Formats: sequence, structure tokens, C-alpha cells
Amino acid sequence: MASTIESTTDKLSQLGISGDFASSTPNLQKNLHLLSPEQVELGKMLLDLGQGHLFEHWAEPGVDDHQKKGFFEQVARLNSSYPGGLASYVKTARVLLADSKAGKNPFDGFTPSVPIGESLTFGDDNFINFEEAGVKEARRAAFVLVAGGLGERLGYNGIKVALPAETTTGTCFLQHYIESILALQQASCELSQGHCKTEIPFVIMTSDDTHSRTIELLESNSYFGMQSSQVKLLKQEKVACLDDNDAKLAVDPQNKYRIQTKPHGHGDVHSLFYSSGLLNVWRGAGLRWVIFFQDTNGLLFKAIPAALGVSGKKEYHVNSLAVPRKAKEAIGGIARLTHSDGRTMVINVEYNQLDPLLRATGHPDGDVNCETGYSPFPGNINQLILELGPYIEELTKTGGAIKEFVNPKYKDASKTSFKSSTRLECMMQDYPKTLPPSARVGFTVMDTWLAYAPVKNNPEEAAKVPKGNPYHSATSGEMAIYQANSLILRKAGVQVADPVLQVFNGQEVEVWPRVTWKPKWGLTFAKIKSKVSGNSCITQRSTLAINGQHIILEDLSLDGALVIDAIDAAEVKVGGSVQNKGWILESVDYKDNSEPEVLRIRGFKFNKIEQLEGKYSEPGKFCLKP
Ligand code: UTP
Repeated sequence: MASTIESTTDKLSQLGISGDFASSTPNLQKNLHLLSPEQVELGKMLLDLGQGHLFEHWAEPGVDDHQKKGFFEQVARLNSSYPGGLASYVKTARVLLADSKAGKNPFDGFTPSVPIGESLTFGDDNFINFEEAGVKEARRAAFVLVAGGLGERLGYNGIKVALPAETTTGTCFLQHYIESILALQQASCELSQGHCKTEIPFVIMTSDDTHSRTIELLESNSYFGMQSSQVKLLKQEKVACLDDNDAKLAVDPQNKYRIQTKPHGHGDVHSLFYSSGLLNVWRGAGLRWVIFFQDTNGLLFKAIPAALGVSGKKEYHVNSLAVPRKAKEAIGGIARLTHSDGRTMVINVEYNQLDPLLRATGHPDGDVNCETGYSPFPGNINQLILELGPYIEELTKTGGAIKEFVNPKYKDASKTSFKSSTRLECMMQDYPKTLPPSARVGFTVMDTWLAYAPVKNNPEEAAKVPKGNPYHSATSGEMAIYQANSLILRKAGVQVADPVLQVFNGQEVEVWPRVTWKPKWGLTFAKIKSKVSGNSCITQRSTLAINGQHIILEDLSLDGALVIDAIDAAEVKVGGSVQNKGWILESVDYKDNSEPEVLRIRGFKFNKIEQLEGKYSEPGKFCLKP
């Protein structure tokens, strides 16, 4: 044993680690002979970075040796998956932690102004024209779903994309997204001249928390009708947690031979793309757009065609989807920032940074509503459309690195210690921060009811949301789909009854008729209008599920439940008076463990008492009239 310690001390001094430093980490010194030369190098790097505490609890050689090697395997992974390695991570962390302690606003020195963008009104001619342009462009688009998040706030046991977006049909988010992309693909091909074989690529960014369950969901459902070759998964790695302002890496509380890790944020998507080589393949295939979206927004694809049309017509390199935002509302605002040194960018500014920034730059009232009743800075909903060429150019310069931030929860005002470990994070919407001033960065504002209803909060937290603010829960997410579909049908000429107010899981929501349709039925407003004719009406207690492409509503009077399933080759006219006992909404107690979790988190379920069902599995023209 004595000779091993001697030789490792030699090894340390050969590596340039001083006797003092080495003796301050005797546990590493004693175990050094277990390690490969590469692992010894990593050990030296950790000591150089002031991370000797990681070895404080290491056992004598012969005890836990396997785990010690495992520790260095993890260090190697953390080192190789971060641009510039762990040294760069710790260095950046020290700077950002010092800034955070000093309370520095990252936008100090910048003056905000209102950027230029497009504000759309659902259903008017302008909107319809943008939708048509967007559908044309869709053939040249690729979709990217960032789905690596833990979803801690929602607290659902499964992955978020497996949750039903609504429980009338039970369609989960991932199925809805895939069917929407396929519907766009088909519609776009139909608009193109000649033979079209487009397969719109679909990339999903996962993490260790979501990867295997995402694959399982896709495989057990035959990719929901998409070709498996169309779907690619890119897995993001987590980053090391930090215990103090000196960026000491945190030891995992469950395992002293592991560094604690947490997700780095959805901003990772850009560096993953850079290293994947996919973007150049897409450019070679003639693609022009990359559309980024998030895991639980059941409304998003109602906004995508028009927003993509805006990108195409306005030639935006970056187009952020946005919704009207009340001044000071807790949602990031999109602003143009200009620095006295000439730098300028159009970027998401968090609401708690925007107001002080305005006050500091000649707007004594800060963020206030303008004549529209909303803040002039629209609310960012984090769905981005990037033009592929400029995106590749930018990533070639930056390697996909996105400016990071740190958000430690301090124990007290001295800001010297944290309540729990923190880590560096990055957000995909910070991509424009490094763009040159010549970049065409814009936004597209659409009504919230049409574009944004994410499912992020568990019932208990949602019930605490102050009145008038969005719950962003499974309850509100599902009700928002019925509301949007009802309002769209109204605009298309159907008489849809007003909603009633009901409380589920402590949240008061508007309950509209439960109207759902497949994306291929109602991809755009023009398509929907073409499938509604005569005088149709739907009562509030009704349920309508349209599961087919060529289904026409003609003089339909619905008071009850109606479900139509039709293959694409079947054209079905639905009319007349449909009246039955229907599907009754019943409350489900969040704490009632006898109910499935997917129902408990929304607080209601359907009691399917009676419905009219039409099933059409043969090609042909049919009429459904009771
Ligand atoms: P959210 O804000 O919903 O965060 O992420 P989250 O991590 O999923 O949930 P909480 O904060 O723990 O409750 C917005 C989007 O970014 C993805 C999420 O999957 C979601 O689509 N995301 C988030 C990633 O892909 N990676 C991350 O590291 C974080």
C-alpha cells in the first residue's frame, strides 16, 4: 500500500499538482491508482477548478471502487457534453453567480422600444391569406418539439406529451402534434404543382427524464401514422448543479460518488442541432423553415399556418409567436433593445426585467397598457419559426451556444447561501441575442384563445392562481380547446351556444360545447368554412367529435352527443336534428385515488350516457341524418 501512495504522489507531481494541493485531497490521492490516465487528468482538472470537496467523502481503496470509476465516467460525460467542458461551465457559473448576487439586470445599458411585428385577427381576409401562404410554405418546414422538461410543476407521473390534450377523444398531445404535421404535409402537397412526396421532418428533443418513454409512446402507437423515418430524437444532457457562489459542484444527496445534475433548459436544442448535422441535410433537401414548439399547448397548430405565412411573406429570419399581454402580466414581453454602444436585438424580456428597464430609461410608469388595452410589448409564448439559411449561418458562428442565466434561490438577503443547489440554464428564445443588427426578427400576435393554453400547473397550484389570470392546468388546457373550436365554428357560421361557468379542482372555467375535430378536417379557417353550410346549431350540453376528413355539417341541429368516424375516402354529410341524452360532465376529486391520474388532474370525466355514432369505413358518399 505504501508504495502505491508513493507512486500516486509521483503521478500527481508529474501532473503538476503540488504536494500541498494533493495532500488537501488525500482521498483522491489514495485512490489514484484505480484510475486510467484520462481519469487522472479529469481529477487534476477538478482540483484546478477548486472542486476538491467532491472527494471529501471517498472511501479507502478497496471500498466502493466501482462507484469511484463511475464518478469519473460521469465527469467525462459532463465535460464532453458542454461546449468548452466543465472548466468553461464553472468559469461562466462564477461570473453569472457574482452578477446575480450583485442584482445586475442582464439588460442594463439597453433601452427598450416596441418592435415591428404582425398582429392578426382570426378569420379576416388578411388572416386567411396568411394561412394559405403558410400552408404552401409547410412543405419546406421541419418541426421541432422540445420535450426534455421534467414538468415538476405539473407533477404528472408520465411524460407530458402522453397526456390527453382533451378527454372527449382521449387524443394525447404527441398524437395531436403528429396528426397536425401530417395534415399540413398533405394540404401543402395538394397546393404544390406536380407530384409531391414531401415528408415533413419531425424532431423531438428529449432528456434522460423523457427519452425512453417518448420512444415507447411512439413505437407502441406506430408513430401515430407518421413514417418512423420522419421522426428523429435528439437527447439533451443535464448539467452539474452548483452549491454556492464559488460554483462548487454539488454532490448528489443520494450518492456521494455522483455529481448532482439538473436539466439545462430548452436552449440546448440549438447546440444539439449544431452537432447533429441535420440542418445541412435539410438545407440540401430544399427546406426553408424550422418551427420550434413546446410540449403541452393543444392550441398551437391553430396558429401555425398563419404564423408561417407571416414568416414567408415578411421574410422573417426569426418569428416569435405572441399573444396580447396586459402590462405587468407575468409573461415575457417581446421588445427591441438598443444599447448605447450600438448593439440592438429583438428579444424576450422577462416581465420582472421589462418594467424596471422601462422605468430606468425614461418611462416613469414602466410597463403600461396602450390604447388597445394591452401592453405594447406582446407576450412571448415561446414558439419560434426560424429561417433555415440564416439559422445555419448563425450556428456556424456560435456553435449553438446560447447565453445562459442562473436563478439561485437564496437563503437570506446576504445572498451567500442557497436554499437548494442551482445550475446554469439556457432558453431557446434567447437565440436572437447573438444575431447581427441586420437580422430580420419579428413576431406574430394572435388571440390567446386561438394560440396558447399550456398545461404546466398541478391542480393545487392552479387553484391558487389569482382570479383573471390563466390557470395553465390540465383543466384549463382542455376547456381552451373546446372554447377555441366553438368560437371558430361560430365564426364559420354555426350557432354555438354560450358557455356556462363551472368549477373543477377549485378552478372556475368556461365550459363550451365539447367540440373536437381531427387536424385534417379543420387545418385552416378556409377549410373549416368550406365544411360548414346552411344553418347549424349546437347547444351548450353537446359533444361533437369529428374524426374524419371529408365530413360536412349541413343544417345540423345538435343537442346531445354526436361522434362521426370516417376514412378519408368517405364523404359524409351530417345534418338534421340530433337529440339524445349526451355525455355528462362529472366532477372528479383530485385526491380520489380510485380515478386515473389523467382524470384527477383535470377534475372531471365524461359519463357517456347516449350518443349518435356514424362509422364510415368504406369509400363513397354518405348522409348521416337521423
Ligand atoms: P417548461 O417551462 O414547461 O418547463 O418547459 P418544464 O421543465 O417542462 O416543467 P417544470 O418547469 O419542471 O414544471 C417549456 C418547454 O421546454 C421543454 C419542456 O419539455 C417544455 O416543452 N424543456 C424544458 C426541455 O426540452 N428541456 C429542458 O431542459 C427544459
